This record gives sequence, structure tokens and C-alpha cells, in this order.
Amino acid sequence: MHAYFLDEPQTAIGGAKLNEEGIFYVHMSTDRAVYAEPLAALCAERGYISQDQVHLSATTPNLEPLLDKFFSEHLHTDEEIRFVLEGEGIFDLRDKDDRWMRVHVVPGDLIIVPPHKYHRFALTDARLITCKRLFQNQDGWAAINRNAA
Ligand code: LAC
Ligand code: NI
Repeated sequence: MHAYFLDEPQTAIGGAKLNEEGIFYVHMSTDRAVYAEPLAALCAERGYISQDQVHLSATTPNLEPLLDKFFSEHLHTDEEIRFVLEGEGIFDLRDKDDRWMRVHVVPGDLIIVPPHKYHRFALTDARLITCKRLFQNQDGWAAINRNAA
């Protein structure tokens, strides 16, 4: 994972700032035998009741409209948690002053976007990501777009 402000001069963002912004981050092995236990512990601790796996690649049907949707700024009333198993992705998150923080995630990165934090998601030029999504409640995860009419 690496993070920086999107506006110039793109200053690096460290763990302390992410913490302060309520963003949880941890790096784990992508080997199931290794991550299974700590992931289960995290689910128990934070009340995740279900999970699925999402895979996006150049051959994903309707990839472009899907990416457009993910890249429109939105929030959720529940946490958004992603554990990257393969590929890479970009989360842009608004800090308390409404500045964009760009977080680049790679395999083994687990990120939790807190509830009510505006964000958007994009693929990198690699055009590939596989990640686990965990849910506390399916309803809380509906996207609420910023500036929605
Ligand atoms: C989501 C990410 C893309 O809501 O923010 O699925
Ligand atoms: Ni989201």
C-alpha cells in the first residue's frame, strides 16, 4: 500500500494520517492457510456476517460501466472492507478537509473505509483485481452518491 494526496505536490500520506481519518489498514499474506485465522478473528471482532469475492479484469463483461459506477464519489452507511488477493486497485478517499487521498492497494492489503466517508475506486493500468469483500449487513453497503439529485 502507498498513499499520497492527489493534488500537487502529491505529498506522501503515512499510517498516522490514515488512522486519524479512521481508515484501518493491515497487510497480510495472500496464502489462505496463513490469512484464514486472522481474517476470521477480524470478522468476529467487527461483526462481519458474510463475504464474497470480486474479480475485475479486461474481460469482465460490462467492465466500463461498472468502473464508471465505482469511480463516482459515494459513501456507505457501513464499513467497506476489501482484502486484495491479486492485482491492484486505487481507493480515493476524502480527508476531513475534503482533500483526495489516493491509496494504492496491492495483494495482501486489507483496507477498511469507515462508514460515511466519501470515496471512489479505480483499477490501475494492470486492469486486474481480485478481492474479498466482507459485509456487516448487505443493506448498509448500498452506495449513496455524492451530490445525488
Ligand atoms: C465499492 C467500492 C468500489 O463501493 O467503493 O464497491
Ligand atoms: Ni464504496
